Amino acid sequence: MGRFWSILFLMVLVGGLGTFAVAPVINHWLPKDVSEHGRAIDGLFYFILGLTGVVFIATEGVMFWFLWKYNSDSHSEPVKFTHGSHSLEIVWTIIPAATLLFIAIYQMNAWAAAKMRKPEIPPTLEVTAHQFGWSIRYPGTDGELGTKDDIYLENELHVPVDEEVLLELKSADVLHSFFLPNFRVKQDAVPGMKIPVWFRPKAEGKYDIVCAELCGWGHYKMKGQILVQSRRDFDLWLSQKFAEQSAVKGPAAAGASEE
Ligand code: CUA
Repeated sequence: MGRFWSILFLMVLVGGLGTFAVAPVINHWLPKDVSEHGRAIDGLFYFILGLTGVVFIATEGVMFWFLWKYNSDSHSEPVKFTHGSHSLEIVWTIIPAATLLFIAIYQMNAWAAAKMRKPEIPPTLEVTAHQFGWSIRYPGTDGELGTKDDIYLENELHVPVDEEVLLELKSADVLHSFFLPNFRVKQDAVPGMKIPVWFRPKAEGKYDIVCAELCGWGHYKMKGQILVQSRRDFDLWLSQKFAEQSAVKGPAAAGASEE
């Protein structure tokens, strides 16, 4: 029994490191990043992972070594307890505080790019979260949201590649969270608020939209798709949708700008 606990703590260390080594190989890692600001966010993630990783290895290593060295088989005399060291406590308070302060300053630019420097463009589309889906609205031929010729879709979002996308996020009922894993975008949808969200897709393809806030019994099925297309395909798709909608609703509803 003497060495049992030390071996157990060594296994935690080995198992933890092993998981990190194997995860990317078996594709259990961050989803492919296809947005411009994703690299900065991933960089922060890896930086913090490295920092906490070093602390994890050090503490688990020390834990293992002390348990190994002072095991009960070779040390039968009773242990002596100490009631702390004032200077040691100051040190282990200052180091994490300084680390957190450093991270707070170091991440400022990534945060500002993703959440504060809103691009000066008209919104590409509007997303309204509701129990349980995403209602998408594009401006019609007049290029303006909130007019009669708007195009409506459910759970299907299209955006042009290599262009800034600005969307307005709303909620029709409760709190939801608009999450685009591949774009490193996550933003709460708050009832009564219109929150701008922006990103610039780098690669064409089909990616997931998910809800990242427990919003009721149907939370699990709040899934949608975002399609990144070339500008040409995007325009073509939008005009097709517009034509389909006008055919259903009649030319009067399609707006005065349609000839
Ligand atoms: Cu909406 Cu979870």
